[in-house]
Amino acid sequence: MTEQHGVLQAGSPEEQVQPDARLKIQDLTFRDGHQSLFATRGRTEDLIPIAEEMDRVGFFAMEVWGGATFDVMHRFLAEDPWERIRTLKKHIRKTPFSMLLRGQNLVGYRNYADDLAEAFVQRCCENGIDVFRVFDALNDYRNFQTVVKVIKDQGKHFQGSICYSLTEPRMGGEVYTLEYYLEKAGELEAMGADSICIKDMAGLIAPYDAYTLVRALKDTVSPPIHLHSHFTSGMADMSLLKAVEAGVDIVDVCLAPWAYRTSHPGLEPLVASLQGTNRDTGFDLKQLSRCSEHFIKISPKYRHLLDDRMSIIDTNVLLHQTPGGMLSNLVNQLREMDALDKLEQVFQELPRVRRELGQVPLVTPTSQIVGIQTVNNVLFDTPEERYTMVTAQVKDLCYGLYGRTPVPIDPAVREKALKGYPRGEEPISCRPADVLEPEMEKAKQEVGDLARDIDDVLVYALYPTTGKRFLRWKYGLEAVPEACRPKSLEEAEKDQELVEKARKGLVQEIREEPAPEKGAGLRTFNVFVDEEYFKVEVEPAGGEPAVTSIRPGAQAAPQKPQEATKPAAQQPQPETPPVGETAAPAAEGSPVEAPMPGMIIRFEVREGDEVSEGDPLLILEAMKMENTIDAPVSGQVKALHFKDGDSVKKGDVLLVIG
Ligand code: CO
Repeated sequence: MTEQHGVLQAGSPEEQVQPDARLKIQDLTFRDGHQSLFATRGRTEDLIPIAEEMDRVGFFAMEVWGGATFDVMHRFLAEDPWERIRTLKKHIRKTPFSMLLRGQNLVGYRNYADDLAEAFVQRCCENGIDVFRVFDALNDYRNFQTVVKVIKDQGKHFQGSICYSLTEPRMGGEVYTLEYYLEKAGELEAMGADSICIKDMAGLIAPYDAYTLVRALKDTVSPPIHLHSHFTSGMADMSLLKAVEAGVDIVDVCLAPWAYRTSHPGLEPLVASLQGTNRDTGFDLKQLSRCSEHFIKISPKYRHLLDDRMSIIDTNVLLHQTPGGMLSNLVNQLREMDALDKLEQVFQELPRVRRELGQVPLVTPTSQIVGIQTVNNVLFDTPEERYTMVTAQVKDLCYGLYGRTPVPIDPAVREKALKGYPRGEEPISCRPADVLEPEMEKAKQEVGDLARDIDDVLVYALYPTTGKRFLRWKYGLEAVPEACRPKSLEEAEKDQELVEKARKGLVQEIREEPAPEKGAGLRTFNVFVDEEYFKVEVEPAGGEPAVTSIRPGAQAAPQKPQEATKPAAQQPQPETPPVGETAAPAAEGSPVEAPMPGMIIRFEVREGDEVSEGDPLLILEAMKMENTIDAPVSGQVKALHFKDGDSVKKGDVLLVIG
């Protein structure tokens, strides 16, 4: 045992602790903690007051950025994501900053061109990121090449990740065997990884698998091993401890107030558990308690985002292997379709769709791609025909745009998906970014003067629609909506009271209104609590079903109907036509209805166009996935009832073919 310093020797006196045996800790409270619990809504102003105390703890690194922060900050918080790194850096001078980077997907949902990837990572380095945890949803490391080169050239820490996935309850089976993980780790070592992360995004790793895997990795590769797991299933505490016994070098945790549930194991119990052993972290529990106190104090601001109605753990994750975020998406999508009763069917179909699509790990973005395709299959397929509505992202996956799947995609599904695919019907086998055109120059031209520096251009290049809107907020060209404004503790506590009243069934009426502004990403409900009237804004399909703001209606309360409470989804369609709809009712011809709620990305046809049956009419985005709506009959396009960017409900008449 003596040569295995990292292996836990319980009860060893502290004076025997070898410096290299100390367990290193990365704190995730500033990023994955609130991403997992509060839909990434943590604000910089709530992190600053505790930043200096956190810097004193002695973390290996603090994860402060990446993942969903970039998207959520500019979209919902009206905060400049780049500014957060620079601001925190002023307060945290010792502890390295780490970020989660989705390989060639950067902090978005598709593979970006090399020039954009290079510029983005370069700016991450210059703004203050020190450790880059890089992952790819398919574990296809060709998607690492471009970003890793920049990270290494800049002298930063490249942490290569292996997405931990399973096809059955334990490690083994068809794809995800011990050999698979060792092979992937070998690839990362060969790429120059400074450390290797087992990224267990769904909290699936069982304690004894963690032990086996870490021991095998320690015996096989030389970079330090880092374990990232989520508490979701309730096993992560035990898995971390077994990994520590096996010699893991670094583990991920959160301060207790933002730990557990779908977040991570808590820091304090782990520190206490290892005190006096050869893997003692050396942390001061009093210091941790000071830090946690701050989070206890500010957490009421975020409480309305926490789904605390269910058990602290979700055993279903182990039964159907559906990660938490994906599950809430599926439930949301089915609810919007009035098809919640189909959830069991979705669980049954999911493993089959996943297998047909190459047995991919389920992590952003593949979890959404597989999940929404499964919903489409359950809702729209017939006994004679499967994959009747294939999303654009599944087509891209079949074409090879995300990379190589762990097992080949089912040839019949691939052929069906690629029929008429614009890039070609033969899939590619090269590195995906090799077929992508450069993007930076185009982005610079499109965004024009609105972008004042390269960081602005990158916001636009990654998120054109919401990025542009954010830049208008940033430079005062457009008012920041109320929903994006930070809330005081007092306001938050008042709101929480209202949410609780609403949950207790004191809501007397709920009526859905069209979103207050297109693309704002919020649905507004009028809620009557007793005789008081409130506006409640709820995340749209695709986000978490969380109340983001609840306040007394600014204008006069609408007429309060006499009817009893009805869930929003069962409300009849509003009588008034949605914005953008032409006045003419659908008279002659075949109406084409929205098969699902979503946002119209673009119409492919104009009024007066002749179309043949099967021609694409428009692209409808639902749950971040794009669906092509084809012409059900041949004829002339009589009337478009909406315009690009409009949100539609299931059953809305999109256009008429006469
Ligand atoms: Co995570």
